[in-house]
Amino acid sequence: MSKSSTHVEQATTKATSTSSQYKSPPRLRSHGLLGSASEMQRDPLKFLREARQYGDVVRMRFVFSDAYLIYHPDSVKHVLQENNRNYNKDLFTYKIFYPFLGHGLLTNDGESWLHQRRLMQPAFHRKRIATYGTIMTDATVALLERWQSNSQQDSSLDIAKEMMNLTLGIVGQTLFSLDLSDETNMIGPAVTTMLNLLGHYIYSPFPPINVPTSRNRRLLAANRTLEQVIYRMIAERRQQNMDTGDLLSVLLSARDEETGEGMNDQQIRDELMTMLIAGHETTANALAWTWYLLSQHPEIEQRLYHEIDGVLGGSIPTLEHLPDLKYTNMVLEETLRLYPTAGIFGRKTIANDELRGYRIPANSMIVISPYATHHHPDYWPDPERFDPDRFTPERSADRPHYAYFPFSGGPRMCIGSSFAMMEAQLILAMIAQRYQLRLVPGHPVEPQLLVTLRPKYGLQMTIHQR
Ligand code: HEM
Repeated sequence: MSKSSTHVEQATTKATSTSSQYKSPPRLRSHGLLGSASEMQRDPLKFLREARQYGDVVRMRFVFSDAYLIYHPDSVKHVLQENNRNYNKDLFTYKIFYPFLGHGLLTNDGESWLHQRRLMQPAFHRKRIATYGTIMTDATVALLERWQSNSQQDSSLDIAKEMMNLTLGIVGQTLFSLDLSDETNMIGPAVTTMLNLLGHYIYSPFPPINVPTSRNRRLLAANRTLEQVIYRMIAERRQQNMDTGDLLSVLLSARDEETGEGMNDQQIRDELMTMLIAGHETTANALAWTWYLLSQHPEIEQRLYHEIDGVLGGSIPTLEHLPDLKYTNMVLEETLRLYPTAGIFGRKTIANDELRGYRIPANSMIVISPYATHHHPDYWPDPERFDPDRFTPERSADRPHYAYFPFSGGPRMCIGSSFAMMEAQLILAMIAQRYQLRLVPGHPVEPQLLVTLRPKYGLQMTIHQR
């Protein structure tokens, strides 16, 4: 943020009648209608980094509401876990997703969220997701075969796009046993269009979705396409009435413990849309960043090869191998520290609260950023350095739990975290077993925080047989 347009006021101790012992946190001053939102929109990562210099809790105006940026692991723990009942998602940043995700788990709140989360949880039980392992490895085998000709021709590919197609294919198979790479299938392109446009829509939701601009029309058209396919599938499956082992089957058979009621079509539609949107871009970008970081750190790449070759001995990994692929996991954890692909999210306070001695009034927006906390120098010495050894059990034990939270935490923690880590570990091991990826010289690499934290210009890389 430029000092000319924004400056900080020192913490004040002005008392309010409700919470007189607490002071107000340092406040970013901003001009303009949208407050700090416009600066945040211009370059969210820079904004988050620079605002931290003013303290661990920073107050600002965000459009029409007061917002508090929190950086300290204790504050994050308080909001997400210890006092989570005092925080909800009643924010426009979630509401603008309603036309697309409806009341799926990500956007839902309160009792209705809790009810749905209980119904959905079995779909993400370790035993259930273990059955998806071969879907993940089969999809990766197909990718390795496809890359064979690229590795011989020295031609480059956009690896971010490749990872996106791979994880979209996997989510299609695991959600509804559908091959999304099939050209006749409308879902793949519609999801891609929707993700791209939603990324921009979240930062500039004007004109609102009901105004027929070109962007809004394309967004709604993609939404309709997805909806039609999903509703048709739900109807077919209800008729067939059999468990095909995918997530849709789990949702169709889920029953409320007390009432015995299942989900209606609208609820299943909302949950499937949410999984399609939440369930692949985040993982794809985590993998894309891993390839970039490995290409810049050959000594870490060699250690990774050493582990993978030793553990797998040339075979395709299975879930039994995963506990032994420890360094592989540490590489992924460190990537998600540097580039947490869900880099920012929010909450609203219900009643007055207190964070690190500062007063936080009811109805305030709380901005939580794994990206900002993961770069906090008090917990991560030399925070920009890629160093998977930060995640040895000993060093992890020395840190507060919420110094690292790429999947959020508390009751609303990502339901797909085990799914994502299992998928990323299998894919990373299989690709690194066979290929080495190198960035095309001169290709610009810049992180961009839209819905997810992605490489702004993609990642043009060449593929080499190891
Ligand atoms: C590296 C991959 C992933 C990352 C970094 C990630 C991160 C997150 C984060 C930070 C949240 C909390 C968001 C908030 O509170 O606003 C979240 C929620 C969620 N994620 Fe993920 N996620 C990943 C993969 C997945 C996958 C694979 C799925 C599904 C297959 C998934 C489904 C969801 C859902 C449904 C929620 C909402 C949960 C609730 O509120 O009950 N995510 N994720």
